[in-house]
Order: sequence, then C-alpha cells, then structure tokens
Amino acid sequence: MAPGTEEIIPQYNRYMASAAKNKDKPQKIQHEIDALRSEIRRHEHLYYVLDAPEVSDPDFDHLMNELKKLEAAHPELVTPDSPTQRVGGKPREGFVKVEHSRPMLSLDNAYNEEELRAWDTRVRELAGNYKIEYVCEFKMDGMSLALTYKGGKLARGVTRGDGSIGEDVTTNVRTMRTVPLSIDAAVLKKAGIPPDFEVRGEVIMPLAAFKRMNDDRAAQGLATFANPRNAAAGTIRVLEPNIVAQRHLDLYAYFLLVDGKYFPDKHADALKALHTAGFKVNSHNTVATTIEQVWAFINKAEQMREKLPYEIDGIVIKVSSMRTQERLGFTGKAPRWAIAYKYQARSGITKVEDIQVQVGRTGKLTPVAWLKPVFIGGTTVSRATLHNMDEIGRLGVKIGDWVMVERGGDVIPKVVKVVEDKEHPRGNKRFHMPEKCPECNSRVHHTEGEVDYWCVNVNCPARLQGSILHFASRSVMNIEGMGDALVNQLHEAGLLKDIADIYTLKDKREKLLALERLGEKSVDNLLAEIENSRKLPLERVILGLGISQVGTRTAELLAEHFGSLDDVMKASAEELQEVNDVGPSVSESIREFFDEPRNQQLIERLRKYVTFKGVKKVRGTSLAGKTFVLTGTLATYSRDAAKKMIEDAGGKVVGSVSKKTDYVVAGDDPGSKLDKARELGVKVIGEDEMVQLAQG
Ligand code: IVH
Repeated sequence: MAPGTEEIIPQYNRYMASAAKNKDKPQKIQHEIDALRSEIRRHEHLYYVLDAPEVSDPDFDHLMNELKKLEAAHPELVTPDSPTQRVGGKPREGFVKVEHSRPMLSLDNAYNEEELRAWDTRVRELAGNYKIEYVCEFKMDGMSLALTYKGGKLARGVTRGDGSIGEDVTTNVRTMRTVPLSIDAAVLKKAGIPPDFEVRGEVIMPLAAFKRMNDDRAAQGLATFANPRNAAAGTIRVLEPNIVAQRHLDLYAYFLLVDGKYFPDKHADALKALHTAGFKVNSHNTVATTIEQVWAFINKAEQMREKLPYEIDGIVIKVSSMRTQERLGFTGKAPRWAIAYKYQARSGITKVEDIQVQVGRTGKLTPVAWLKPVFIGGTTVSRATLHNMDEIGRLGVKIGDWVMVERGGDVIPKVVKVVEDKEHPRGNKRFHMPEKCPECNSRVHHTEGEVDYWCVNVNCPARLQGSILHFASRSVMNIEGMGDALVNQLHEAGLLKDIADIYTLKDKREKLLALERLGEKSVDNLLAEIENSRKLPLERVILGLGISQVGTRTAELLAEHFGSLDDVMKASAEELQEVNDVGPSVSESIREFFDEPRNQQLIERLRKYVTFKGVKKVRGTSLAGKTFVLTGTLATYSRDAAKKMIEDAGGKVVGSVSKKTDYVVAGDDPGSKLDKARELGVKVIGEDEMVQLAQG
C-alpha cells in the first residue's frame, strides 16, 4: 500500500494488517475489497451528493487505484456494483424497451397565481376536511428517469419514454456519481426503505458541465447542444457508456416507490428517506401548509433562479399525504395532487437593427442579432444569438424584422420567431455570411453541406484564447494550471499571443513573477508543466493545432500514417484520404489549415519546441479497401480491439451497414445491423473468420 492510505481509512488499514498475516485466504481478500468499496462509496457520497469531501482528489484516486489493483488480481471478485464499474462498459447498438412498474405521468401546469390558487381550492374541496401539507420542489429542467434497486443494488435504469414504456439505459446510469450502485443494508434500514424499491428523479446537466462540454465540442468542430436539457436527454441515450462517463450528469431524486406504490405515507418523508439512503435530493425543497406560503416560495425561488448552478423552469407542488393523494386521484395523464407552476418564458418583442458576425474562441463564426434594446426579466437585452445560417433560414429573419426574443437561465438570449403584423412590418435586408473573417480578414472556410463557417487563421485574435486553452488542455498537451484565468492574464500582459509563445515563457520568468497571483512556486510548476508537454507524442501536437474536424482519433491516425508533421503538411487531399477516417470533408479542412500562411509561420515557430516526428506504423494490406461493421458482443475481443485489428490490417470499420459494407462481424446478441446485413446480402462472419482475414 502506498503511503497516505493509513490516515484515510483506519478500518481498511486494519484489514490490510490482518490480510498480511493471512495472505492467501480468499475471504481476507474479499474483506479487503469490501472495506475499500465501502470507503470509496462513502467518499463518493460525500463528494458528489453532499458536496462535502473529506479527502483530497489524489487521496481518493489512491483508494480507487488500490481497489483496481486488487480487482485486477482477483477478477472473479469484480461485481457490477463495485465503484470501479462506473466507467466503461461496451458500446451498445440500441436500448431495450422496458415497461414501467407504474406509469410515469406528467403534470398539469399553472402559469399564474390565479391558476395556482384555483388548483389549491380544488385540492381542498376534493380532500374534504383533511389538513393539507404541500411539498414544494424545484422543477429541474432535465429528463425523468426510473431506477430499480433489488437487494439494495442498482438493477436497472429506465428513461420515461412514453410514460408506460421507456428504454433501459442502465449502463449509462451506472456512470453517474450521484446514483448509488449499492446501498448498505444498515443504511437502508436507517432510511426505512426495504431492499427492493424504485427511485424516480430528474437527470440534469449542471450549467458549468454544459458549458464545458459545448466548448469542447465546438473546439472539435462538432455540433453544440442548444440547452442543458437537450444535453442531458441526449447524453443519457448515448450508446457508448465511456462518453457518458466523461460528461457530467446528476440525478436529483424526487419519488420513492415500493411495490409500484409511492412510499411511505408522506412525500416529505420519502424525500428524507431518499436523502438518508444516499441519493441527491434538492436541498431547497420546502413544506408549506397554505397557498400563500407556496406563492412566497415560488417568488423566492425565482429570485434565486439566475444564480443556481443548474436550470429550473418552475416549481412542482405535491400534496404530501399519500392518503390524500389517493383521494384526489388522476385526470387523464396527470395526478390531481400535484401541479407544475411554470415560470414565464422570459421573452419580449423587439426590432433587429443589424445582423453581425461574432468569431468565437474556436474560430466559429456565429451570426448575432443586434437588437433595439428591450427589457426582459430584469435585464436589458440588446443582442441575441442566431446560432448559424440554418437557424436564420428556419426563422426566415431579415434585418429590419421584429422578433420575439427569449432569455433562459444562464444562456445567451435567442431569437424565437419573427413577429409580423400591422405594428411590426417585415424587414427586407437579407444577411450573408462574410467571405473574410471580420476580426482578422483571413479567409472563411465552409464545407458544402455543413452548417458552420470558420475563420481559418489559427492566430485570429478572437480565436487565440480558445486555441491556447485547447492546446494546453488535459487530453492535448496536458499543461496543468494553464486555464482560463491564467491565459487571460498572460494575454493581457502581452506574454502570450499564440501557442508557440507558451514555450517562450521560460525566458520571461521575471515578467511572470511580476504578475498578480504568480509566485515563485506557481511559476516553477507552470514552467515544469510546459517543459513536460514537450515530450508528448506527435498525435498530441497535431490535435493541439486545433484543425477543424480533427479529433483525437484522426490525429492519431494521421501521426501513424505519415510519421511526421512535415509529411502531413505536404500531403495532398488524396493522400490524406488514404488515412482511415479521413474523408473529403476532413481532408479539405486539413489542407485549408496548412495552406494558410499564418498557420505555416506558427508551425515553423513550434518546430523548435515540440515533437514533430512520430513513429510511422505500417499497416497491413490484407484488408485494404475492405469495410467492416461490428455488431453484438465478441467473445475474445473488445470492440476497440477488434476495430484496431481490422484497421491495422488496412481495413475500415464503420457504424452502419450499407451495400458498400464488405463484412458484418456478428458476436453474441447481435442487433438490427445483422438483419440489415441479411436484407442487403452483405457477408456475415464470426470472430474467428475476422481474425483469419486480418492475418491474411
Ligand atoms: S414530479 C406525476 N417533480 O417535470 C409526477 N417532476 O412536467 C411527475 N420534473 O416529467 C413528476 N423536476 O421530468 C416532478 N421535482 C420534480 C421535478 C419534475 C422536474 C420534470 C419531470 C416531469 C416533468 C413534468
């Protein structure tokens, strides 16, 4: 055991001491594993659910690594509820449909105080003489989910779907840290929950995670999500659990069911029990006995709304007593005992005075509407994003039009629609994307058939900060400490104008020390991080250049195929397309990048500092020109390993079956791709045949 763990878990330490004595006894190993798992679960709960960590991240990682080591040595002891099993899992082909234990209903809405009071009056009428207690909860803007636990262990996670039938997304749910994979019998007992139960709640993506993910996607030239709700709903249905694990989703629990019925007698107690059992329950939830108290909570929450780290679109009010809930029953699709008070969409009508282009941190050109200033939900709005040319087309907006503008949580205002009537006549000036970047006058790149337009100059002032952050990020050159604030500070001090400047910082030590918040130690650390990055392999450098459409995998393949940055730069579009994964659009984007003189100058400066040479990997030719599709679970190879084997033999692996597919490799439990292959007469082979083909 590495130093440090002793202080973290005395309990674990005791097991280790006794384990040393009883080295080969399997039950001792099981004890050690159990002790580690329970300690890790405790820290996960403290960190992710209660926001109150007791140990530092490295200490936590240390515990996790110890567990991973033990499990690697004793794979027979790995269980699905182990904390190590949150990340990973095999990609899936689709989700299995599952019927809910009890329908997941929706709620009726109230849009103003009058409608809310009318609902309260009706509740009191129907409830007879009973005293009413309401629970007021934030209406989290995400997607609802049902989690089934058996024997205290997470058995299944299912989306709402149509309310009666949802999709089994268990592998993705397992990656969410706010979902306990296993709950101790003693904890459940304390919470008063039997071992088999169901939890329902809302999956959300916090605003910070949403922003980070969208920035990352934009940096890679991928489409961004319109809002956190779409991001959460989209992510929970991603087929690759690894991707879900990298994004940050939280589950806020709001219902507890036992045997398909709400449990226990009061909803307020259900929330307490869920909290005790280790689920994340929104701490703002409040009990109210009068509609005035409910109204006060609605108003208070609206004030808080702007500052919350996640989006809410209203308040849900629920009758707490289950007995009263039963008396009130349901209307069609919604319970009478609950209502959603929806906050007003914060919108207003104003005139589009101009449409101008803004160059984002990634070089993407975004059309922005310049508006006649209008007061919406407490602030003056004078700009609104129009996202892209497709959106302008969809809205049909022209300069001079009157439009409806909406403002949500933390998101920039957006134009919802064009308004047209006597008082609001149509404008007539069409907007066109400029051919030159408005910031640096470089050429604007656009691939036919794609949505976005990009400035090709990596040194475009608007793009600068984004390119530096991308270059320094963990998955690229991994320069820890070089985040938003520092990059901004260095840029303002004139020390950082492009990515090559990062490597000149070591000669500017005095200037660095003169900056606020940078002491000897932090400068040393930063310079050491920068120095370390110089050793990173060619694929990281290629990725770091921030070429549109070149992500991790493409950068890797380019490095392997060409073996040096100079050869990538010299390659024609046709030669680039010899690389797997590089089609006409990617090759065009790579050529555009290297043809830009300013990018060439930057690369010349970088040459001195980072790795330009890689190891050329000669691929086999046995599968040259052959296209494969993988389906089902292979017995020996993971999907990644199979893909690599095919690619190493010169073949290509694609996601869907078409007439052009040469082989479909089918494992256990194959999906619809197998049917498609049969329908199109594509040859279906097994794992063994795949290996034989690859070996030539
Ligand atoms: S209760 C039958 N509570 O809002 C009860 N829903 O408009 C239905 N939501 O589908 C759900 N926060 O996705 C409930 N605290 C909360 C909620 C909440 C968000 C969502 C949920 C539901 C929709 C209903």
